[in-house]
Amino acid sequence: MTDSPVAIVTGGAHGIGATICIELLKNGYRVCVADIQKSKAEEFANEQRKIFGEENVTAIQCDVREESYYEKVFEETLKHFKRVDVLVNNAGIILPTDLQEYIQVNLLGSLYGCHAALKYMGKSKGGNGGAVINTAPIEDVGPIPELPGYIAIKHDLVNLTRSFGLPFYYEKDEVLFASLCPYVDAKTIKAINKACKLELDSSSGSDKLSPEYAAKGVLKLLEDKINGSTLLVVPNGYHYYEPID
Ligand SMILES: NC(=O)c1ccc[n+]([C@@H]2O[C@H](COP(=O)([O-])OP(=O)(O)OC[C@H]3O[C@@H](n4cnc5c(N)ncnc54)[C@H](O)[C@@H]3O)[C@@H](O)[C@H]2O)c1
Repeated sequence: MTDSPVAIVTGGAHGIGATICIELLKNGYRVCVADIQKSKAEEFANEQRKIFGEENVTAIQCDVREESYYEKVFEETLKHFKRVDVLVNNAGIILPTDLQEYIQVNLLGSLYGCHAALKYMGKSKGGNGGAVINTAPIEDVGPIPELPGYIAIKHDLVNLTRSFGLPFYYEKDEVLFASLCPYVDAKTIKAINKACKLELDSSSGSDKLSPEYAAKGVLKLLEDKINGSTLLVVPNGYHYYEPID
């Protein structure tokens, strides 16, 4: 396993991020679980070590609101595994209770992650190339009048990813960028409904809306290798979104 690829997953201790870690491990990746919740990240990493092997999982505390944490995460991962191939910029907060924090985590956090990925994986900086997957909301959720900040910020992530996915970057650094847009699950829709007094439909019942199916989308993006692409996870499966330019 010593030559197997290595992925860093931010927000990897819980939810979709944890499920992404498991899917990557199942598919032969070694994983660094990077999360603001130190003990939760360590606890989750310990569980996965028992299943996938002691040497294949690390955990590190990371607050994506601080650019310096990314440097620490990349440097520690390189020290431990000797390589980094994938960054999954998954850390996020769903409900916009504090808009400043929301922007810092969901938008700036991902931007810092993209910069760090180019710095540590970019071929022009001595790296080996690789891939960055940003999780973002599904394209056709908005607009929602009660959630303008949420919709604007999360949708900017798709354009941020598409910008980094232009040949301008790839020709120099061979780092691929793509977005994964999972459809909100029933529990999240209910929470949004409650917090914002909305009545969004939460009764889909599709097996395609599970965290496991969303997490497998990361593997699909890594296999398909379409730079700048946006993979939607919708009730009837995966669809690449074709924006009108
Ligand atoms: N759940 C959904 O239905 C859904 C739908 C579309 C997009 N998304 C996106 O997917 C991502 C994961 O969502 P989830 O539902 O699994 O969330 P979650 O709340 O279950 O897990 C988020 C994880 O991110 C970590 N985190 C929060 N702030 C952080 C920070 N500043 N630095 C590092 N880690 C931090 C948390 O500790 C937690 O482990 C988010 O970016 C979310 O916006 C989720």
